[in-house]
Amino acid sequence: EEHVVTLNNDVQIPEIGFGVFQTKQGGTTVEAVKTALDCGYRHIDTAMIYGNEHDVADGIRNSGLDRSDVFVTTKLWNDDIRAGKTKEAFERSLKTMEFDYVDMYLIHWPADGWQQAWDEMQELYSEGRVKAIGVCNFEMDQLEELLKHSSIKPVVNQIESSPQFPNQELVDYTHEQGIAVEAWSPLGGLNTKLLSNQKLIDIGMKYGKSSSQVIVRWHMQRGVIPLPKSTSASHIAQNIDVFDFELTPEEMHEVSNLCINKRVGVSGHDFDF
Ligand code: A2P
Repeated sequence: EEHVVTLNNDVQIPEIGFGVFQTKQGGTTVEAVKTALDCGYRHIDTAMIYGNEHDVADGIRNSGLDRSDVFVTTKLWNDDIRAGKTKEAFERSLKTMEFDYVDMYLIHWPADGWQQAWDEMQELYSEGRVKAIGVCNFEMDQLEELLKHSSIKPVVNQIESSPQFPNQELVDYTHEQGIAVEAWSPLGGLNTKLLSNQKLIDIGMKYGKSSSQVIVRWHMQRGVIPLPKSTSASHIAQNIDVFDFELTPEEMHEVSNLCINKRVGVSGHDFDF
């Protein structure tokens, strides 16, 4: 059985992705990516600014899988948006990875100049250099402006979302526009305390699952694509071992009720980098 979501341009994306933000450069990332692929992940989410695009690509090469078996996302950084260098940045990322395409290219933040960046991304897409294009960290008004002025709809908006900050209004708005939602820091981010929450542990107990597996499942059942990250082999394996149980509507509600409206990052209105 294939666990995929169909994007608005008919491209299929695996419904759990492996995140590598702040995963150390070099061997750690190569190993983590290879472990993830061994465990069944087929979707890796990196970015130029993470500094590990090459290591991600090496992990994929080391896995023995075909390039076409893995959905790879990378992102356009703010400096390149501000400098109007979208196509150059895209070619640089491809060169770093030694790939001849990426599956998805995303605007990392709505930095000044993103409108022109989106025009260039649309060209990359039309030229067949990338299979899907989208954005990250776009708030409602920014998404609205983008939709008003572009001919190609973004396939995803990747935003912060976790039980402590579901970001539900933005999730719902994005879905209403026919755009998929991906969640960064889906488990509550680095040094997360969420995973020791007793409610999540209790729900997991019923199914023989961990709090982290409950959270991954919660995202999937609300139609959000989670991008959990880990460098621990057992955690990596756990976070994709979520296809043999289902949360009840009541349990979904209980997880949503853990909302304390506290971000670990910043919004698309407040970032300064
Ligand atoms: P570790 O690398 O030790 O597994 P997020 O994806 O929300 O950003 O959360 C990432 C954090 O959650 C990392 O610190 C990661 O640490 C930890 N983590 C990921 N999966 C699990 C898991 N299954 N059990 C416990 N901690 C986890």
